[in-house]
Amino acid sequence: MNISLAIKKSTKILKDKLIPNPELDSEILMAKTIQKDRKYVLLNFNKSLSKNDLNNFNKLIEKRSFHNPIAHLTKKKFFWNSQFFVTKDTLIPRPDTELIVENILSLTKHKNKIKILDIGIGSGCILLSILKERENFYGTGVDISKKCLNITKINAVNLKVYNRLKLYKSDVDKFTLGKYDLIVSNPPYIKTYRLKYLEKDVADFEPKLALNGGLDGLSEIRKVIKKSSELIKKNGKFILEIGFDQKSKVINLLKKEGFYINSSQKDLANNDRCIVSTKI
Ligand SMILES: C[S@@+](CC[C@H](N)C(=O)[O-])C[C@H]1O[C@@H](n2cnc3c(N)ncnc32)[C@H](O)[C@@H]1O
Repeated sequence: MNISLAIKKSTKILKDKLIPNPELDSEILMAKTIQKDRKYVLLNFNKSLSKNDLNNFNKLIEKRSFHNPIAHLTKKKFFWNSQFFVTKDTLIPRPDTELIVENILSLTKHKNKIKILDIGIGSGCILLSILKERENFYGTGVDISKKCLNITKINAVNLKVYNRLKLYKSDVDKFTLGKYDLIVSNPPYIKTYRLKYLEKDVADFEPKLALNGGLDGLSEIRKVIKKSSELIKKNGKFILEIGFDQKSKVINLLKKEGFYINSSQKDLANNDRCIVSTKI
């Protein structure tokens, strides 16, 4: 069978299972199967596939038809300027989170040798993207999940920033090391009862530890704000990702812990997504 026919068949399978971008996903999984990029796939539709490749491709398509995320099947996700290694143990980096990176880069344009703490570092997508862009910044990452920290380490080595990074396995509550010029966090912020209503790709495959914000969605955010107020230097910047309906509650929490609110920003879908504040 040639590439074109295999993709045609798989597109139909995925379409029938209501996968949103069946053709694109088929092309990406074909590229993964034959270890080429998508451009090669598109330019070589008439090439025939070996039995082995066809078998492997069909297995990937079957997994995708059960809503296994593309990033889990390819083990990678592009975020900001880099390719990140991801597995089922970490949240897949989201395009909306690039807003956080953009903010930090603009806030630190003229800064030198600053120390940044990322609480709930996950794959490392936020902090490592910053370290990659700013060669004289130093980073510390904390996560309650050892598996996430292993993934961050792989990404830090791949991005050649591991020599400026320290990683700690800790609950945010218990972390007490250092003082930081800037703290960033994208904590779990989804209300527990809403988890089962998330799209299947997310609800069935991404780690609950990365998503579950407790009964009111704010239980981890509260911890992160409290801890950040202790670990941040005076006048230090705190950048926090939030859920679409949490802005006013989070602003109140921040003010109570001595933060001045600089701005709040919306994501690509026009939802409140990020709050920038300063410790006073
Ligand atoms: C929403 S994910 C964010 C991951 C990554 N920073 C990103 O933006 O893609 C939240 C992360 O916080 C970690 N986490 C959850 N509860 C935590 C806690 N109490 N203390 C430290 N980390 C925690 C999770 O393991 C997960 O990696």
